[in-house]
Amino acid sequence: MFFDAFPYVRLPALTGSLSSDVQNLLEANGKTKTFRHVAAVAQFNRGIAARFGLDPHACEAAGYLHDISAVIAPADMLSYAQSRALPLCEAERRYSFLLHQRLSRMVASEYFGVSDEDILSPIECHTTLREGASPCDMALFIADKLAWDQAGTPPYFEIVNAALERSLDAACLAFMDYMMESGGLLCPHVNWTAAHSWLKGKA
Ligand SMILES: [Fe+2]
Ligand SMILES: [Fe+2]
Repeated sequence: MFFDAFPYVRLPALTGSLSSDVQNLLEANGKTKTFRHVAAVAQFNRGIAARFGLDPHACEAAGYLHDISAVIAPADMLSYAQSRALPLCEAERRYSFLLHQRLSRMVASEYFGVSDEDILSPIECHTTLREGASPCDMALFIADKLAWDQAGTPPYFEIVNAALERSLDAACLAFMDYMMESGGLLCPHVNWTAAHSWLKGKA
């Protein structure tokens, strides 16, 4: 079982309700703030789904599950990825929190039993996006950035939200351009770089 590798993770009994099970797991492991964030992202992503004709259940579930690997200590992420022989890019080796998207996919699949790629794929690329991203991938990428659960709004909110009026592609490109121009990227992930070129080529 996935969490055998992390014996310190507390595992409340599953209820079959995804939102409750995510809440119980996060809160049992001291991640109450993360639950507030994922609940906000789930709700926002459901709204994006309605707007762009995507599956609202898949988008909501992806929102709830996208940061579920927060129950794993960041220091363990790199060693676990290496133990599973995952190919890693330089950005992931230097900033192992970037691995949380891939580990969250594993938790969704291996612990929660999710098999729908419209849920798993967006979780796996919600921080970096990827070349050839699907509408569901882009929806979660944007919901994660716009569903702000702190005071005020993020500095890119207006630009990205205005671009979302045009399309998911435009919103993703607007956020990526903002991050690259503001120097907010520590070390671009290979998937980020490829996604950015791909979106620019489509624009
Ligand atoms: Fe995340
Ligand atoms: Fe997130």
